[in-house]
Amino acid sequence: MGVAEIGASMKRESSLARVLVAYATIEGQTSKIAHRIADQIGRHGHQIVLVDVHEAEARGVADEFDAAVIAGSIHMGQHDKELTAFVRRHQTRLSEAPSAFVSVSLAAGRPKYLQEVAGWAKDFYRDSGWTADVEHHAAGALRDRRLGFFKKLMLHRFMQKEGVKLDPSGDTEFTEWTKLEVFIEGFLAKAGLADA
Ligand SMILES: Cc1cc2nc3c(=O)[nH]c(=O)nc-3n(C[C@H](O)[C@H](O)[C@H](O)COP(=O)(O)O)c2cc1C
Repeated sequence: MGVAEIGASMKRESSLARVLVAYATIEGQTSKIAHRIADQIGRHGHQIVLVDVHEAEARGVADEFDAAVIAGSIHMGQHDKELTAFVRRHQTRLSEAPSAFVSVSLAAGRPKYLQEVAGWAKDFYRDSGWTADVEHHAAGALRDRRLGFFKKLMLHRFMQKEGVKLDPSGDTEFTEWTKLEVFIEGFLAKAGLADA
């Protein structure tokens, strides 16, 4: 999906906001996360602009949003370069509006990597010139069919070392949806958008 406008305008006009949800995904989990976030915010009656930053349409996104959620995954200790570029382009508006960052990785599901995970978010802020008001580290997923031989081997080795059991189907999801939902509710409340 490139850019989708999801409008739900049954609620009071005055409390409606336009919320940007922009994401970068490689194997698909951050896309799933961003769609869940968009649905959740949409249920509050807000209008959602859902943007996959890898799609060409992402270039045409206007700075017309009242709040924003940016979501990206970690590959080799880094967030996506296209996501960094997208945020750079919208840095001014993102810094004015209430904003949240959701960083997705396998390490996020392992408490001992807390510092590392926080460091990746800090690097993203440094490189993009924007710092979110609130951030959440979401555990991602490991889906063998989306990985080539060497990537699969590397990630399986890592999880084995960590003592994590993988689903025999080759599809293991670590994302804790309730935690994510609570985070988004907290963000909306902080932004004054929870009661729309
Ligand atoms: C090539 C590759 C490198 C990765 N590197 C890291 C890493 O350095 N740290 C980490 O915690 N997770 C790492 N991961 C795990 C991903 O962050 C995780 O699978 C996430 O769910 C991917 O999100 P996406 O599906 O939205 O791209 C890596 C995954 C792949 C395929």
